[in-house]
Amino acid sequence: MEVDTIVYPDAEALAEAACTFAAQEIEGALRDRGSAITILAGGSTPREAYSLLSREILAKKIPPSALVWLFGDERWVPENDPQSNERMAREVLLDRIHAPASTVISWGAGQGEPADCAARYAAKAQGAMQGHVADLVFLGIGADGHTASLFPDGTAHLTSGSCVEVGPNIPGFAAAVHSGTAKGWRLTLCPSVLNAARTVVFLVAGEEKAPALRRARAGDPTTPAAWIRGRRTVFLATRDALGPEAANFGREVRHA
Ligand code: 6PG
Repeated sequence: MEVDTIVYPDAEALAEAACTFAAQEIEGALRDRGSAITILAGGSTPREAYSLLSREILAKKIPPSALVWLFGDERWVPENDPQSNERMAREVLLDRIHAPASTVISWGAGQGEPADCAARYAAKAQGAMQGHVADLVFLGIGADGHTASLFPDGTAHLTSGSCVEVGPNIPGFAAAVHSGTAKGWRLTLCPSVLNAARTVVFLVAGEEKAPALRRARAGDPTTPAAWIRGRRTVFLATRDALGPEAANFGREVRHA
């Protein structure tokens, strides 16, 4: 399992690098298989990287029909809500590349029971993946160390109907999470799905993330972002997110 950390001077440089990295991963999957499955993160950090990626996909004339898009997690709101991760991704990426409806796998959040929603998503997403693992997973890290909607204080309501504490071994494909930190319900893919991916890329910016990023990179078991390692994992971080450790890095140094 390969783990790299690459540091950038600021969020703009991070976004540019994330775009280049993602385009390379997607083109690699297209060469290998003729299609590419990407799991998108929500929040604010990935926004600029997605916007740049939309331009890259258009410029390279990558056929949008060959790209499948999933969401690693979603808030418990309809997709037209300003808080929706899907809405953000559509605004800056998916609508810009004219992604066919069949290629964007929506959680359909905010209606019915959260665990039922997770069960429907699991079925839809696995159908779209056609037995393949994700080629690329974007993830962010919260200041508390959460990633996707795997929160340290969460309870996972499984599609089987049972309920477990959020942890590295939540069974199944998707779950509904109730978390005080998240102030209510969230939807998330389970660690096993994220960990099966060919490449996981964490995008981390801001000094407030430094303690959580350090714990995530160190494999601290109390930090959900530490539970996620793809076949290859890359932390793309700004200098301030790396905190004092940044002194160990050059400008854009690859560091195992
Ligand atoms: C969400 C995300 C979440 C996010 C982190 C970091 O739904 O918000 O999926 O896991 O990646 O909270 O968010 P920022 O990028 O906004 O700091």
